[in-house]
Amino acid sequence: MSLNLYAKIEPYIGFKKEQEELHNLFLEKLLNLGVKKVLDIGCGSGDFLLKAQKSGLEIEGIDLSAKMVQRAIQKGVKAFCIDLCGFNKKVEAAVAIFDVLNYLNKKELKKFLSCVDNVLVKNGFFVCDINTLYGFTDVAQGSMIVDKKDRFIALDAEFEDEILETKITLFEKENSGCHTKESGVIKQYYHDIEELKLFKNLKLIDIDFISLFSDLSDKAILTFKKE
Ligand SMILES: C[S@@+](CC[C@H](N)C(=O)[O-])C[C@H]1O[C@@H](n2cnc3c(N)ncnc32)[C@H](O)[C@@H]1O
Repeated sequence: MSLNLYAKIEPYIGFKKEQEELHNLFLEKLLNLGVKKVLDIGCGSGDFLLKAQKSGLEIEGIDLSAKMVQRAIQKGVKAFCIDLCGFNKKVEAAVAIFDVLNYLNKKELKKFLSCVDNVLVKNGFFVCDINTLYGFTDVAQGSMIVDKKDRFIALDAEFEDEILETKITLFEKENSGCHTKESGVIKQYYHDIEELKLFKNLKLIDIDFISLFSDLSDKAILTFKKE
């Protein structure tokens, strides 16, 4: 998957307002759960880590993109470029925010949830979001162009057979005046909440449908408790 290409375009594609709104909802949930030690899985460039740290949580993050982790560390937070299944400390809660679960296909999701289970203490919590079907068909699908001084980004997303394929093309101007072209595809997978209920050990205790990008529910925030 083109995680490093995504990391390159992330600062330019916006969604900052929606990201902040989502982060505030996650923070509120963690504070209400009364947890202290938290792991942010797929922490990206560390904005949630910083917000949670400022609110007194002991939080660290992991992400598979080295570029994202580098950006997070520059913000003064603890972040590591390691796979979740290699994380060997225990936390009271883990979060996976802004589509992280949708990046995983069904097989990867099963393994991911068993690794979430491994990092949680007994009675620990896992809070994550997933896109609703409406979020995929009516919000995420479509094209978008970003035309900045030194770069041009084209995104073209199509949802078919429960998979959203986003084709990314990035043109970057070099010092010589020439442009380099990079392209890649990011896949996101729709997951039915009913399927997520089937995972042993993590019990779904709360579903909160939210509308980030439109008036209808385009995402759900799910809270699981380790039994
Ligand atoms: C849309 S970004 C969200 C970043 C951040 N959580 C936020 O709220 O802004 C998704 C992030 O998930 C990371 N990611 C995707 N698959 C992952 C995996 N299997 N394990 C860890 N991180 C992953 C990507 O590198 C990317 O930084």
